[in-house]
Amino acid sequence: MSKAVQNSTSGNFRFVRNVVRNYISKNVESETNSNMLPKNINKWFSEMSSKLEESYLAGDTPWQQSGFFGPEEIWIKCRKPIEKCIVSSGTFLDIGCANGYLLECLIEWTRVRGIKITPFGLDISEKLIDLSKQRLPKYKYNFYVGNAFTWISPQKYDYVRTELVYVPEQLKKEYVDRLLKLFLTDKGKLLIAEYRSRRDIEYVPWINTFLENEGFRIDECKSAFCEGKELTRVCVISSIR
Ligand SMILES: C[S@@+](CC[C@H](N)C(=O)[O-])C[C@H]1O[C@@H](n2cnc3c(N)ncnc32)[C@H](O)[C@@H]1O
Repeated sequence: MSKAVQNSTSGNFRFVRNVVRNYISKNVESETNSNMLPKNINKWFSEMSSKLEESYLAGDTPWQQSGFFGPEEIWIKCRKPIEKCIVSSGTFLDIGCANGYLLECLIEWTRVRGIKITPFGLDISEKLIDLSKQRLPKYKYNFYVGNAFTWISPQKYDYVRTELVYVPEQLKKEYVDRLLKLFLTDKGKLLIAEYRSRRDIEYVPWINTFLENEGFRIDECKSAFCEGKELTRVCVISSIR
């Protein structure tokens, strides 16, 4: 990978991570407990999403418009662990679907294994959902604009993918509980992804540590590596029914 691409990839990750961290430390910390929405929570979501939206919409490629600013082969490598978690046909909700490119890839990657997924997408950005509908017009009625922390789903899904950076630190446990209780079919699987850049510090614990500390039982984790460094980890948690 060229230096310029590496720099822009890690620069974007750092940008997004810093937006989230700065906003939490300035506005949310000490105002939240697990049962209460913080005073500034709506502002947190709207500022974070408008910054992400601006950065994604400036991208030229489908993967840039999904928040990945490296080359296509690394996008594929880093998103393949999600596909590996899909073991049977069914409905798949991508929470934080951006422009729908991950869903488009998953449909194709699973099709060659004889698995048919029906895609659904949720994103906080209306503009990105419009792009998803254009990308997958056959499924345009399966795309929704909403905040994953408060959105009421009209149905349940066999697979739900998300990331925990979509909510402030203090609300992460409540968010996972909510998804497990309200979004999954009886045999549904929740796929919690964490994506990192090559420059992220290695000793920071991955999401499975947080999930286990909070008492969630993880069935399995799938990872992707680039030049020996882990860049993706996806933890699978089964429906609690
Ligand atoms: C990194 S992209 C993920 C794209 C694709 N799903 C993937 O895994 O590569 C994150 C997306 O999550 C959306 N997002 C962030 N917080 C959200 C929230 N609270 N509710 C819904 N969508 C959210 C952003 O607008 C952005 O489009």
